[in-house]
Amino acid sequence: MTLIFIAGASGFVGEHLVDYLIARGYAVKCLARSGKKQKLLSSKGAAVVSGDITDPGTLKGVLSPDDFVVHLVGIIEEKRDATFRSVHRDGTANLVAEARRAGVRHFFYQSALGADKASWSGYLKTKAEAEEIVKQSGLRHTIFRPSLIIGPWDGFTRKLVDMVKLSPVLPIPGEGRARFQPVYIKDWLACLGKVIETPDAFVSTYDIGGPEQLSYREMVEKLSKALGYSRPSFTIPMGLMKFGASVLEKVLPAPPVTSDQLRLLEQDNICDPKSLEKNFGVVPATYEAALKEFIS
Ligand SMILES: NC(=O)c1ccc[n+]([C@@H]2O[C@H](COP(=O)([O-])OP(=O)(O)OC[C@H]3O[C@@H](n4cnc5c(N)ncnc54)[C@H](OP(=O)(O)O)[C@@H]3O)[C@@H](O)[C@H]2O)c1
Repeated sequence: MTLIFIAGASGFVGEHLVDYLIARGYAVKCLARSGKKQKLLSSKGAAVVSGDITDPGTLKGVLSPDDFVVHLVGIIEEKRDATFRSVHRDGTANLVAEARRAGVRHFFYQSALGADKASWSGYLKTKAEAEEIVKQSGLRHTIFRPSLIIGPWDGFTRKLVDMVKLSPVLPIPGEGRARFQPVYIKDWLACLGKVIETPDAFVSTYDIGGPEQLSYREMVEKLSKALGYSRPSFTIPMGLMKFGASVLEKVLPAPPVTSDQLRLLEQDNICDPKSLEKNFGVVPATYEAALKEFIS
């Protein structure tokens, strides 16, 4: 029987995927680092192995020929040894090497919309490098490049909810005009579900985005409305925000926002609004419909 092996199962997307697969009767095996996360995943009904993708020794023997590998491991900010390069590029190379050794059925990699080897962003550059490793591996593979994924409780929405609840005014970094294409986790799951059912039909790279292209300002305003608040917004010059972030990065181990994340808010992160419908036959939820479902 096909086993779904998930690396990154303890994250926002991974936990939703574990629930989705277990509810549909799939056998699931997760790679997880901490004992707490391992216990949580076991309690959902998944088998768990201990491992870290930056440490190839911990991956030895964890995969079998029948496995469908789902690689969701990623970081949004660098901390000590966990750099974009070590986790995205080298970590992917380690997992791919193990997948090749085992001769797995299929390899799924979660990249990011805008992944580009020439990008100034370490996040997007190393996502592109990881894609290349998967493409060159000789493994049958599928790559998703999602825009922002929203759902209970992604880090981005959680931060916005806290801000809307706590702050009497809504700060918008820069003009807040760059556009995003938020996609609901349920729609992401519906797409991956199709890949798992018929992997042969999806051997390619897919942009994954919702039906609308929204600016940061529009997302903040819609979220505020969904929560029942009517907050005025004001613009904070991006230069000032970046200066503040660079100071906080030096003094705090986990700053609320990094300069790189602010720079990502300055560039469009969009794709064809019909991409899910065309490629997977999935009609994605609008931002407001998704918020209404999970915020209420
Ligand atoms: N969420 C989005 O909007 C979005 C959009 C585009 C692309 N993506 C990509 O989608 C993937 C999942 O996103 P997410 O939002 O679920 O991220 P997340 O909540 O931060 O989860 C990341 C997962 O990676 C694991 N991980 C990190 N470093 C690891 C390592 N060295 N070895 C093994 N596991 C490690 C984490 O384990 P611990 O629990 O032990 O930390 C966690 O399970 C990421 O690759 C992300 O870049 C996400």
